[in-house]
Amino acid sequence: MTKQSSFSMPSTNLFGVGSIQETGKRLKDANATKALLVTDKGLFDLGLADRIADIVKEAGVEVEIFPKAEPNPTDENVAEGVEAYKAANCDALVSLGGGSSHDAAKGIGIVVSNGGTIHDYEGVDQSKNPMVPLVSINTTAGTASEMTKFTIITDKKRSVKMAIVDKHVTPLVSINDPELMLGLPPALTAATGLDALTHAVEAYMSTDANALTDSAAEKVFEIIPEFLPRAYANGQDVEAREQMVFAQFLGGMAFNNAGLGYVHAIAHQMGGFYNLPHGVCNAILLPHVSRFNLVGREDRFAKLAFYLGENIEGLSTLEAAEKAIERIERLAADLNIPSGFAELGAKEEDIPTLAANAMKDVTAATNPRKARQSDIEELIRQAM
Ligand SMILES: [Fe+2]
Repeated sequence: MTKQSSFSMPSTNLFGVGSIQETGKRLKDANATKALLVTDKGLFDLGLADRIADIVKEAGVEVEIFPKAEPNPTDENVAEGVEAYKAANCDALVSLGGGSSHDAAKGIGIVVSNGGTIHDYEGVDQSKNPMVPLVSINTTAGTASEMTKFTIITDKKRSVKMAIVDKHVTPLVSINDPELMLGLPPALTAATGLDALTHAVEAYMSTDANALTDSAAEKVFEIIPEFLPRAYANGQDVEAREQMVFAQFLGGMAFNNAGLGYVHAIAHQMGGFYNLPHGVCNAILLPHVSRFNLVGREDRFAKLAFYLGENIEGLSTLEAAEKAIERIERLAADLNIPSGFAELGAKEEDIPTLAANAMKDVTAATNPRKARQSDIEELIRQAM
């Protein structure tokens, strides 16, 4: 190994049907007396937030529900959450949802523990103090935000997604209960599942990949081609949901420690600028960025094809590598992912701004092939 590395994730991670029952006990163990439960309106309306609040109260911890995490949570969401946290005298956080609720809760937590506004923490490890205890309950598979040190918050004034990568926002406990995912609609299953695949691919190609992150990513490649289409075709397939929980968590283990690349760097801009779902942005970009990254990484893409289950016997390294990208394209097509950004409202004239912002995104740093701004513009153009 030529450079130092670390491997981090929440200290406790719970899996399996019924694991949400542990939420209150885990807060109590962290000496919490009152928790702000951060969730979105949809889950609140479904009664799920109340169900979790009851579990927490049973353990002797009070709860205040904050059901205002928006998809692509904003700096305003975070500021409002900080006010709610202080007004209710909370000393802990619970997040319930997919990426948005966890990201909002992490943003609230870092500001509560360190002061200022969320903008002060854009970048890598900008905070001084550890965050208040956060128990993150995941409802999608997934962003893996319930177990990472990544928080993505939209700066409304600039229409830019700020990437906050900070060891202090890592949740204390993550909970992945597949029962909560049985009702996910097919389009959300597809988008979040392909986000998980993108995490593993980008971590696998990253300049910071190592044997630990590789082993996590390779398992993701084995699970997703089999179980993501099953979860998409039949949301009630418990085995498929369970396998996707592990796949998305392993993807989180990989990218939380190896970093990401240009797919996420560009997807953050597309999502922030046009308010598009994160997983869809990644799924559209992944084949284009992969072709760009193929130069200098043919051997890695050939291994990717092998782990995706492709028969690469007798093929040259380049032929095998191309099979990996074709497999990813076929998977996205099978799951009805839109073929480009134009149909989602993206405009040609915005490309230079989007590319300039993508170059500055912290996730760009570990992309294996270094791009100029004109390269990024070309990648976005290809993905239109
Ligand atoms: Fe992602």
